[in-house]
Amino acid sequence: MIDPSDRQIEAASAELRAGNLVAMPTETVYGLAANAWDETAVSKIFEAKGRPATNPLIVHIYDWTFLDQCAEVPLATEIDQAMKQLDAFWPGPLTLILPKSQRISSLVTAGRETVAVRVPRHPVARKLLKSCNFPVAAPSANRSTAVSPTTAQHVDDELGEQVAVILDGGPSELGLESTILDLTESPPRILRHGGVTAESLAKALHLSVDVLTRGTDKEVETAPSGHRAPGQMKVHYSPRTPVRLKSDWIPVADERAGWIRFHVDTSAEGPEASIVRILSNHGDLKEIARRLFATLRELDQLDLDLIVIDTCEEEGMGRAIMDRIRRASARRDV
Ligand code: TXA
Ligand code: MG
Repeated sequence: MIDPSDRQIEAASAELRAGNLVAMPTETVYGLAANAWDETAVSKIFEAKGRPATNPLIVHIYDWTFLDQCAEVPLATEIDQAMKQLDAFWPGPLTLILPKSQRISSLVTAGRETVAVRVPRHPVARKLLKSCNFPVAAPSANRSTAVSPTTAQHVDDELGEQVAVILDGGPSELGLESTILDLTESPPRILRHGGVTAESLAKALHLSVDVLTRGTDKEVETAPSGHRAPGQMKVHYSPRTPVRLKSDWIPVADERAGWIRFHVDTSAEGPEASIVRILSNHGDLKEIARRLFATLRELDQLDLDLIVIDTCEEEGMGRAIMDRIRRASARRDV
């Protein structure tokens, strides 16, 4: 891991204090950070990303002691109990949806009565948050609907002009975003699969995976409005080059296709492409997740007609991987 100096961290936190945007490494993906108390700064996030104001932001805090400023969790309630059961996952790639505090701006929550909160575990994010005396609102540091950045270079390529400082913490350890768990629903429900598996959350909460993931995979367009993650658009994580799941791929003559493979399998037939990327020799889901977005970005630069991508079982991290590649392959015209 690359470790920015204390001076760089201090410079970044001074920029945040001054109302400017900073790119911050986290264990999931890079975030585009602003002081959550500063509405003008928060509005710069929406502007830089081209993000609709209806899509709320995740608030990042250093530890539990900042929670009361952002969320209101009455003691001895179902939510309070669930939070205790989930204690082991913070810091880490788990975002909780909680009733919002008065102090959190409706700009951050897109007018909702709930707020998304997360305690990242990346040491650079932790140092930055510790040096700020305020919570930090941060979506992934990409343009809206594009692929999330997993290196400082990705952020620089896409949003370099809009950020005051990019803290380089090396390639993201997980490569996919945090899991979003809505604790304001009873029983709790996963809104987005991510770095913490549904199986491990189900175990901690003594619930079945089916209960926890009810409706998670439905697209926002077809779902009743209200509780689900408003940012879970059908088209998301999208490169410019069309993406097709390997299971849906039909060969077309003279098509220049790149193939993203999940493991080495000499018997598998795919596009006769010279551009092949193997994300993991043995199909290790963590390795696939870590390299997925960077590889999509890389192939997107090659001016291909199509990117064909392998699929995997929807279990453990496989749920988050399949979620992202389904959205990446969703056609823009439907
Ligand atoms: O791993 C991550 O979570 C990264 C890093 C930077 O922390 N952040 C991230 O943020 O993925 P973003 O903005 O790209 O995705 C946040 C998702 C969006 O789909 C948003 O709609 C949803 O969280 N969200 C935020 N607040 C919410 C709320 N109050 N209720 C439901 N969904 C919410
Ligand atoms: Mg995002």
